[in-house]
Amino acid sequence: MARTLLVTSALPYANGSIHLGHMVEHIQTDIWVRYQRMQGHTVYLICADDTHGTPVMLAAEAQGITPEAMIERARAEHMQDFIGFHIAHDLYYSTHTPETRHWACEIYNRLKAAGYITIRPIEQLYDPVKSMFLPDRFIKGECPRCHAKDQYGDNCEACGASYEPTDLINPISVVSGAVPVRKTSEHHFFSLGKCETFLKKWTRSGTIPTEAANKLDEWFKTGLSDWDISRDKPYFGFEIPGAPDKFFYVWLDAPIGYMGTFQKLADERGLSFDDFWKKDSSAELYHFIGKDILYFHSLFWPATLECAGFRTPTQLFVHGFLTVNGQKMSKSRGSFITAGNYLKYLDPEYLRYYYAAKLNAGMDDIDLNLDDFTARVNSDLVGKYVNIASRTAGFISKRFDGQLAKAHSSEAQELVERFYTSAEAIGVLYEAREFGRALREIMVLADAANQFVDGAKPWDIAKDATQDAKLQSVCTSCLELFRLLSLFLKPVLPVLAVKVESFLDIAPLTWQDATEGASLLGHRIKPYQHLITRVDPKQVESLVQASLESLTPEAPGSAAPVVAAASTIAPVSDTIGIDDFSRIDLRVARIVAAEEVPEADKLLKLTLDIGLEQRTVFAGIKSAYTPEELVGRLTVMVANLSPRKMRFGESQGMVLAAGDGTGIYILSPDSGASPGQRIK
Ligand code: 2FM
Ligand code: ZN
Repeated sequence: MARTLLVTSALPYANGSIHLGHMVEHIQTDIWVRYQRMQGHTVYLICADDTHGTPVMLAAEAQGITPEAMIERARAEHMQDFIGFHIAHDLYYSTHTPETRHWACEIYNRLKAAGYITIRPIEQLYDPVKSMFLPDRFIKGECPRCHAKDQYGDNCEACGASYEPTDLINPISVVSGAVPVRKTSEHHFFSLGKCETFLKKWTRSGTIPTEAANKLDEWFKTGLSDWDISRDKPYFGFEIPGAPDKFFYVWLDAPIGYMGTFQKLADERGLSFDDFWKKDSSAELYHFIGKDILYFHSLFWPATLECAGFRTPTQLFVHGFLTVNGQKMSKSRGSFITAGNYLKYLDPEYLRYYYAAKLNAGMDDIDLNLDDFTARVNSDLVGKYVNIASRTAGFISKRFDGQLAKAHSSEAQELVERFYTSAEAIGVLYEAREFGRALREIMVLADAANQFVDGAKPWDIAKDATQDAKLQSVCTSCLELFRLLSLFLKPVLPVLAVKVESFLDIAPLTWQDATEGASLLGHRIKPYQHLITRVDPKQVESLVQASLESLTPEAPGSAAPVVAAASTIAPVSDTIGIDDFSRIDLRVARIVAAEEVPEADKLLKLTLDIGLEQRTVFAGIKSAYTPEELVGRLTVMVANLSPRKMRFGESQGMVLAAGDGTGIYILSPDSGASPGQRIK
């Protein structure tokens, strides 16, 4: 039965780059969507940048541009990344659009008319210097429970306590460094508690994974509190109708961005918005999300839709987080890899394949182990899959002018039929998002195809001119098996599939082509073209190195990538003893040579004279200084930092510089200091 599906991935924040963590979800979504399209269903895949909120506002201010200019820039960059990974969006839009504004206001008005909105004053911390209320992540102070210093306003990283920002001891504004004051203002609330009966039923009706529903039960037990949906100015967002200087909280309009984006697509394509969003819509609506935003998508989002008279999602597909080499992605380990950096060094289809091999329908985290990545791609894609064509297609071109045989041998026939009948089971696995299991099934078939090639030995048959018919038949069967493997892998490897379709000279493969009727028997193919290159471990190494070089200071609230902290002044860190300090060997150094490192965007190679010896240091200061400006200058270096191996040599220390995101300023001693002097 033909189905119509509207599918979304979570909307990435506009103030951070797309990284390999995001790509888990976008690749997962894209594979599923491509599979559905191969089945002949009508699928609309939409996504957008999530543009509103304080972090975006402050990041733009720090860059000295308007939020509108910043989000436009981000959107262009994000779109380029997604195109690079072959994500087949029908539309990649933004939440800062007339369409999303329209639906946010409409939903708010409907909720208000139906009695779901209340207004009451609340007290919050306010930055008297910046004249703004401070979100939890923009306040730091001492944990009220364990007294760890430098903790965010919502919870303590040292002891795990959750608290209100007003509970912090000695709070400080991360934005200005000022001591926040308490201030009262009126907020708008959505009465989530009134939706409890609906939500309890909705979350147990197959819409979310059982493990997620169990998690929600804990939230139901503690009771559903009213949801604060307004923020005071200054705020980058949509003003609330009838409430001047009050704005919708970003999480109110972010999911409405799914509607706004679809509205835009509907306008462009002449589709009916209502057919997809009215209460009894027959179109299916799926949201792919990470488990961190389950709360918003399984409570607030269905509740607001239901209470405002719209349809609710058919299902939420929830995945876990990404770890790299078994650990949280980390900038200092070079495992915080942006999509853009990845694409500079490696083929996107490698990552699509690796993620697919690891993905299933559950919420478990998945690990990108970089050695395993190289081994898996080389062994499965190069060694097993493409190998079948590269070992047989040449004979067909050279000896038979591209013409394939009209029949299989009986042995091959059996194998080809096994492939046809596997299509259904593999399809079921794709449908269920059990991609790892689907790929294992496909690789079992690839093994069988390789055994067939190894047994038939076309390279031996080719030596005997009287065996031409056999050679043609064996190679034909192999290419038919290869066609079917390409079909099964097409949701994961769409570009490779296009290359295969072109060399086999066939129409774009659909799932219905896994039959005898679509077989290559009697068909003429084009000359074989090179399909894939092995992953070279050096490429992976270069990627890690490049990720180290793109190191930027961690920003407040960086759990979700937030502000490129420009004008923000970080609070002073925890105290250390004099012994800790004296272990750092700081020396006056003269820069005797400086040169650019052509392979690195941000680095200069410095030769430093520290009296008794010379040191080589790679410093991330290229954006601020030319080599000529530096040569001859005195500066300060950490002389006893462990040397660090980099792609272009060893860095033997570190030059001290001030930096807050707006500029880089290297430190110099007062005149009269000489190289090698210790700083105390
Ligand atoms: O967590 C995030 O990255 C959010 N920007 C996701 C929003 S999804 C949807 F609700 F808009
Ligand atoms: Zn604590």
